[in-house]
Amino acid sequence: MDFTTHLGATAAELETTLEALIRQPAAATMGEPRLWDAMRYATLGGGKRLRGFLAAEGATIMGVSRQAGLRAGAAAECLHAYSLVHDDLPAMDDDDLRRGKPTTHKAFDEAIAILAGDALQTLAFEICADPATHSSGNVRANLCHALAVAAGGPGMVGGQMIDIAAETADQALTIEQITRLQAMKTGALIKFAAEAGAILADDRAAQDALGTYATHLGLAFQIRDDLLDVEGDEASAGKRLQKDANAGKATFVSLLGVSGARKAASEEVDAAIAAIRDFGSQGKWLQEAAEFAIHRKN
Ligand code: IPE
Ligand code: IPE
Ligand code: MG
Ligand code: MG
Ligand code: MG
Repeated sequence: MDFTTHLGATAAELETTLEALIRQPAAATMGEPRLWDAMRYATLGGGKRLRGFLAAEGATIMGVSRQAGLRAGAAAECLHAYSLVHDDLPAMDDDDLRRGKPTTHKAFDEAIAILAGDALQTLAFEICADPATHSSGNVRANLCHALAVAAGGPGMVGGQMIDIAAETADQALTIEQITRLQAMKTGALIKFAAEAGAILADDRAAQDALGTYATHLGLAFQIRDDLLDVEGDEASAGKRLQKDANAGKATFVSLLGVSGARKAASEEVDAAIAAIRDFGSQGKWLQEAAEFAIHRKN
C-alpha cells in the first residue's frame, strides 16, 4: 500500500469518528442547529487529516486501542478545524476559500464562525477528557494538558499572535524568530497529535522520540505550506494562494527564498526521520508522513 492510500483509509475512519462526535443535542432550539451545522461544515468532508493520522498511527505503534487513537486524532482535528475557521476570519487572514469550499464565515456569518470555532475547541477537550478515550483519569488529564499547551498561548494561539504582529513589524523576523513562530502556530498541534499514542500508553521515552520527530515534521509541514502559497495551484490547494507576501507574513520563504526554504524543509524531514530510527520498521508510515509533508500539493 502506498502512503496516500493508507492516509485516505485512516482519514475515512476519522471522518466516521468525527461524524459521530459532532452531533447537536436532541433538545437543540432557536439558533443552536445553525451552530452545529457550522461546526460540521468546518470539520467534516475535507482536509488531509494529517494530525488525526499521526495520532492514530502513534497509537498503533504504541499498541493502544484503535478507538483511543482515533478519538485523540479526532480531538486534534476539531482543534485544527477551529484554528482554521478563526484564521480565515476578516480580522485574521481574511480568506473566502478553504478545503475547496467557502470559508465558514462566508457560508454562515462571522458571529456563527467565531462561535463554531469556540465550540470545536471545547469539544476537542471534551473528547480527550471522556472515559471512552481512556479508562485512566491520569492519562486523560495528561492528554488534556498536552492539548492545552499545544493549543494556547505557548502553542498555536501564541504563534498566530506573532504571525499577525509580524505583518506590521518594522524589521523582518530572524530565522530563529520564524522557526519559533512556525513551531508554535503549526508545530505544537502536530506535536500533540504525534505524541498522543505515547501519552495514551503512558510511555515517556516514546513520547520524547515522537515529540522530536513531530517538531521537525511540523516545521517541514509549515515551510511547505509557505512554499505552496508562492508556487502552488489554487485548485489543488483548495484555498487562496499568493497572499503571504502582500500581507507581510514572516515565513521561511520571505527570509530564505524558495530554494533556501526547500532546503530547510528537506533538512527538517531528515531530522524527523532520524528521531524515530529506534522504532525500526514500525516507524515506516511516520517516515512516509514526513516525506509527504514536503511533497504534498495541498
Ligand atoms: C493548514 O493545515 C494550515 C496550516 C497549519 C499550514 P493543513 O494543510 O493540514 O489543512 P487541511 O486540514 O489539510 O485542510
Ligand atoms: C495557519 O497558518 C496556521 C493555523 C494555526 C491555522 P496559515 O494562515 O499559513 O494557514 P493557511 O495557509 O491559511 O491554511
Ligand atoms: Mg494565518
Ligand atoms: Mg491563513
Ligand atoms: Mg499558509
